[in-house]
Formats: sequence, structure tokens, C-alpha cells
Amino acid sequence: MKTFSLIAACDKEMGIGKGGVLPWRLPKELERFHQVTAETRDSTKRNAVIMGRKTWESIPAGRRPLPGRLSCVITRDGGYALPEGARKFSSLEDCLSSLEKDAAIEHIFIIGGGELFKQAITIPACRTIYLTEVEGIYHCDTFFPPLPKEFRREHESEAQDENGVRYKFATYKRL
Ligand SMILES: NC(=O)c1ccc[n+]([C@@H]2O[C@H](COP(=O)([O-])OP(=O)(O)OC[C@H]3O[C@@H](n4cnc5c(N)ncnc54)[C@H](OP(=O)(O)O)[C@@H]3O)[C@@H](O)[C@H]2O)c1
Repeated sequence: MKTFSLIAACDKEMGIGKGGVLPWRLPKELERFHQVTAETRDSTKRNAVIMGRKTWESIPAGRRPLPGRLSCVITRDGGYALPEGARKFSSLEDCLSSLEKDAAIEHIFIIGGGELFKQAITIPACRTIYLTEVEGIYHCDTFFPPLPKEFRREHESEAQDENGVRYKFATYKRL
């Protein structure tokens, strides 16, 4: 199986969402999300971003599918309509096995939300977690799952400061 990464931003309580949207507004953090998920070594390929239906709906209509990446949406609703350029799958496993066969895809990122992260983090092909750790508590209703013990913290950035909100970029790798 192709390896894949998770990418998320969470608060001190591992909160990632509230009321169906992000609990904070951090444009530079979103820029970094774009950079990490869009960058490829081979310019003839692109990356895929996999998300749950609720995360898809949390992205403003004008900004989806995410530019420069293949957007894949997981839903049990067979009639769910997506615009051209986005692909629908009935399970995470179906999506991963389809992308595995797709030679035009370089790397796969799972970008949320809580339901998708919880399923994906247990799959051995999940090798890397990019976690933006936001200082403070945002009283979220959606959470990142506990990190399994086989993940080791490999990298931590300097503290970033945006609109008075402090955060760090951390990277975890599966041993
Ligand atoms: N901070 C971050 O990094 C970050 C990143 C992404 C999202 N978020 C936040 O997270 C929240 C959304 O997360 P969420 O956990 O509520 O929802 P989600 O994971 O985005 O989507 C859940 C939906 O995905 C589909 N789904 C999940 N597992 C499935 C499976 N095994 N087979 C088929 N379909 C499956 C179902 O869609 P159907 O109901 O259509 O069947 C389910 O209702 C929002 O607040 C969003 O802003 C935060």
C-alpha cells in the first residue's frame, strides 16, 4: 500500500473543530497547509487530499476542490453530488486502494476531519503526521485522536505568532 500522511491543526486539548468549522482564523497556517499538501518532487504529478464529507462542506464553495491537488471525499451517501475535479468514495479503504493504482498521484494526505483521522491513524501505511499545535483551549466539539505510541516526534518549528495566536509546526513519524 502507498504510504500516506495526516495533516491537522489542534489546540491544547487536541480540539480541531467547532460547529462544523475551524475554531481559529490563521491564514499563514493555511498557507503552510497548502504548501505541504501541494508540493511534489515530480512536476508531472500531483498529490491527493482525502477528507470526510463534513470537512468538504466546511470549505467555502469557491475554494473547493482544493487547487493543485486531487480532492477525494468520503461519504456513505451514494447520491452525494460533487463538482467536476473532485472524486467521491464510499469508504477510506476504497479511496486508498484506488489512489494506489493511480500513477499520476505522488503523495496522499488525509486532511480531516475527526472521523477520518480516527480511522486513518490506525492504518500502518500512515507514516507521518503534520500537526500544528495551537496554544490555548478553544472548547472544540471535534478532536484529533490520541497519538498511538509508535509515533515519535521528529521535528518542531520555532513558535509562530499570528493575530496574537501562538503555534508550532510539529512532525511525527511512525517508528
Ligand atoms: N483543525 C483541523 O486540522 C481540521 C481539519 C479538517 C476538519 N476540521 C474540522 O473538523 C470538523 C469535521 O470533522 P467531523 O469528524 O465532524 O467530520 P468528517 O470526518 O470531516 O466527515 C465525516 C463524514 O465522512 C463520511 N465518512 C466518515 N467515515 C466514513 C466511512 N468509513 N465510510 C464512508 N463515509 C465515511 C460520512 O459522511 P456522510 O455522513 O455523508 O455519509 C461522515 O458523516 C469541522 O469542524 C472541520 O472544520 C479541522
